[in-house]
Amino acid sequence: MPLSEDQIAELGKQTLEARKLSYSPYSNFAVGAVLVSSSGEFIAGANVENACYGAGICAERTAMVKAITSGIKSFIAVGVASSAGTTTSPCGICRQFLREFAPVIDVYMFSEDGSYVLEPLTTLLPRSFGPSNLNIAEPLP
Ligand code: THU
Repeated sequence: MPLSEDQIAELGKQTLEARKLSYSPYSNFAVGAVLVSSSGEFIAGANVENACYGAGICAERTAMVKAITSGIKSFIAVGVASSAGTTTSPCGICRQFLREFAPVIDVYMFSEDGSYVLEPLTTLLPRSFGPSNLNIAEPLP
């Protein structure tokens, strides 16, 4: 389901704002991610780094873990923005992580001025690996 112009503007605002939640003293690269649920809720996340670098987590996964553990299970869009100001696309691990819960989600990659590049996860992660490869039904709607 496509977002309305008003929803896209709101998603851009909240995604750029979510960068402020980032804990990124090592990379100084703040990332914000906001999921939009099928019922129109916005769930924000940011990257959280660690002195043991590999223990850090990206913004997109933070938002998804927050949503799932809040009982929200169906999503139509995710916004991503970074302190670079230009568009940032989700890393490979985040694409796979999003795919588990939202295989056809629309990814809005925002620049500082609110403009965006929109690409569905299906083209960001083609021929993806999922539950069906393990002969398991998609766990969520
Ligand atoms: N990062 C994200 O939060 N999302 C991405 O999709 C790309 C990378 C974070 C991880 C790390 O904290 C910082 O950006 C630099 O890689």
